[in-house]
Amino acid sequence: MSVTLKYLRALSDPTRLRIVALLERDELSVNELQEITRMGQSRISTHLGLLLDSGLVQSRREGKRTYYKLSPQSAAAAGEFIQLAIRGARELPEQAGDQINLRRILNRRGEQAQVYFNQVAGRFDRVYGPGRSWQAFGHLLLRIVPPLVVADLGSGEGLLSELLARRCKRVIAVDNSEKIVAFGAAKARKNNLKNLEFRTGDLQDPPVEAGSVDLVILSQALHHAEEPARAVAGAYRILRPGGQVMILDLARHKFEQAHELYGDRWLGFAESDLERWLEEAGFKKTEINIVAREEQPPHFETLLASAQK
Ligand SMILES: C[S@@+](CC[C@H](N)C(=O)[O-])C[C@H]1O[C@@H](n2cnc3c(N)ncnc32)[C@H](O)[C@@H]1O
Repeated sequence: MSVTLKYLRALSDPTRLRIVALLERDELSVNELQEITRMGQSRISTHLGLLLDSGLVQSRREGKRTYYKLSPQSAAAAGEFIQLAIRGARELPEQAGDQINLRRILNRRGEQAQVYFNQVAGRFDRVYGPGRSWQAFGHLLLRIVPPLVVADLGSGEGLLSELLARRCKRVIAVDNSEKIVAFGAAKARKNNLKNLEFRTGDLQDPPVEAGSVDLVILSQALHHAEEPARAVAGAYRILRPGGQVMILDLARHKFEQAHELYGDRWLGFAESDLERWLEEAGFKKTEINIVAREEQPPHFETLLASAQK
């Protein structure tokens, strides 16, 4: 059958004219078409089937729903036919009601999101949102970081080191637990992170060449050091002039069980301790803030200290 005949046949019915006129505005599901036209599901499905066969309409599945829209190819090839169909639909008595119902349904789609966000406003940061995670935010923030050479001291298995290695020029992860280093190195190999090197060593005297790195990170590691001031001085030694140190650690707390539970040597630090050690090591431009507070007892607080060599 010729294409023209196929289009003419598909459009030679008032219900199909109504459907084409509705799909001209937006894609719609069968349920939505039912609600707009007040017709039964099987009737709508039959007409949609005929429009699909003609090539004037195409469908897209999203979960359990199927959405229908005018096919972009036919809009080019069959533009005249579609315009005729829309004109034809305007002559039908159902047209006014169809258009009012269509507007209501399209508005409702937008409102669903608005209603949800209005409900969670004020506590949005604390409610679950699909795909919103600190790990994802971390990846985003890393894209704006220049390609640095980083030393992650007391790295653990490399949660942060791995993230950094995806962006940075080179990452040296130092930890004094041989088991952790072996595990972290194997994981880096598995993830093909060739610029991430694990080294066994003490963060108070890191096995890293003097003046060789742009950034030193001590994330929840300083409170394990016997002499935190020595670790801060060690960070200064391995940084190039102008390089930065970033320390994430617990603010001073009274949760004694941290010694047994987490093997912590120190119960966090006062901001003034960190400031003094940084200054004594030779750092400038020190900034220290509380950046997180836990909601659960014992309400640990996290300090972020940064300074420049
Ligand atoms: C709480 S974990 C922090 C891991 C990682 N930085 C993070 O933020 O996910 C502390 C790590 O420091 C390591 N560590 C403790 N004392 C150390 C020392 N003196 N020198 C090097 N690493 C040390 C531990 O083996 C452990 O992996």
